[in-house]
Amino acid sequence: MGQPTPARNDPDWWRSAVIYQVYVRSFADGDGDGTGDLAGVRTKLPYLAGLGVDALWFNPWYLSPMKDGGYDVADYRAIDPAFGTLAEAEKLIAEARETGIRTIVDIVPNHVSDQHPWFRAALAGGPERELFHFRPGRGAHGELPPNDWTSEFGGPAWTRLPDGDWYLHLFAPEQPDLNWAHPVVRQEHEDILRFWFERGVAGVRIDSAALLVKDPRLPDFVAGRDPHPYVDRDELHDIYRGWRAVADEYDGVFVGEVWLPDTERFARYLRPDELHTAFNFSFMTCPWDAGRLRASIDDTLAEHAPVGAPATWVLCNHDVTRTVTRYGRADTGFDFATKTFGTPTDLALGTRRARAAALLSLALPGSVYLYQGEELGLPEVEVDPEHIQDPMHARSGGVDPGRDGCRVPLPWAADEPYAGFGSRDTAPWLPQPDDWPSYAVDRQQDVPGSMLTLYREAIRLRPAFGDGPLTWLPAPDGVLAFTREGGARCLVNLSGTPVDLPEHTRVLLTSGPRAADGRLPGDTAVWLV
Ligand code: GLC
Repeated sequence: MGQPTPARNDPDWWRSAVIYQVYVRSFADGDGDGTGDLAGVRTKLPYLAGLGVDALWFNPWYLSPMKDGGYDVADYRAIDPAFGTLAEAEKLIAEARETGIRTIVDIVPNHVSDQHPWFRAALAGGPERELFHFRPGRGAHGELPPNDWTSEFGGPAWTRLPDGDWYLHLFAPEQPDLNWAHPVVRQEHEDILRFWFERGVAGVRIDSAALLVKDPRLPDFVAGRDPHPYVDRDELHDIYRGWRAVADEYDGVFVGEVWLPDTERFARYLRPDELHTAFNFSFMTCPWDAGRLRASIDDTLAEHAPVGAPATWVLCNHDVTRTVTRYGRADTGFDFATKTFGTPTDLALGTRRARAAALLSLALPGSVYLYQGEELGLPEVEVDPEHIQDPMHARSGGVDPGRDGCRVPLPWAADEPYAGFGSRDTAPWLPQPDDWPSYAVDRQQDVPGSMLTLYREAIRLRPAFGDGPLTWLPAPDGVLAFTREGGARCLVNLSGTPVDLPEHTRVLLTSGPRAADGRLPGDTAVWLV
């Protein structure tokens, strides 16, 4: 399958990698049953290699009742039959590696599925209760939850069992939280890490990484009180030091899902004996505004520098509004709390900006995450409520559209049924909108100016920036201009007016056409040498 890429044996690959996120359920359907699977991913490895990505991050592919798209894991050592088998996963990991692509799996340590053997045994009254947070209720008859915590998906974070006790779930009731004060929980997760590293994975994404440890007293939440009863508690760092020791045996790397506003607290997770990297959500949620983006980039680089960790750059993922849609709205930032149905969107504008943002993020120092379909310019889909499966929707009382809008199965071939996903007889698990074929891979492949071509070119040309630090260059208001020591320059025009390109430079790549007089129009980026 071609020559190994030069990056193949570089132990520091993760410091500057382009990592493609595969939401298996919606990526490619190998067996035609309407659900994406590992067989589908295997057939698309040449596509991914052609795109030039260094690694794949797979959302959870384990045995799961799919109450939260696989983030409710019933067995961390088995592949869900809808996706394939463990033997197939092993083949996929090996085949990807042969094409120079590493694999990152997603471990969900905060909670398990209510179908996990531990929770079933706990419900049956076994000692496994200690592995979770079971408590009697408050009130005269225990009819009130043990404390006032709310679930991230809305509603109380506690569910009462027929025997009267309550159990904690920071997410859906089908996702009971584990008790990380218990040594068995720690041991089990270190074993799970080993299990996947033994199978050749290069890295692990850690789901909800800052939520695992709870204040043992389980007190009510008091706004502003420090420490928080379950977010970012100091005890977490010892857990991750243990994980790091396991990863080091295999040269494995971590990327943590750490949502924290405090940059100093965030950076603690990235100390040299903890996690290698964490997602940069401040950049992902940053509005399309030159000053705000520059501040976000500066803060990111400043917070990572003291701990020697590389930054990550993320524009979207399986939880948030797709980039071309977000940038085409009045509010170009992202906030879970303000998502609604029917938000007006200018997709042409959003797409121009997303193209410029792609060149911006791929020019910055660090690694870049690319969510499947971003390279096709897929918009967020407003899924008909009757088809929505994401628990966020139902638990919000139907107000929040949930996250299925960025999880619609990918279009591969414009003229095939379901744009090449599923089969003639079986519709994809989420319906695709009518214009989906126009985004299909075969409509964009090798087409000059397509989003796919832009991404492929950008990933190919990205080494022109080298691996040096970033220096801002003087630029007009509303324009971001920087260079990387000894490398190329990037200019992004977020002002409303065209700007001149610097003299004595050659254009490597632009995100959109230049003006007739050669200037760089608004919402456009250029790479120069
Ligand atoms: C993370 C995942 C999200 C999931 C949640 C609970 O935030 O990205 O998809 O619903 O954790 O596991």
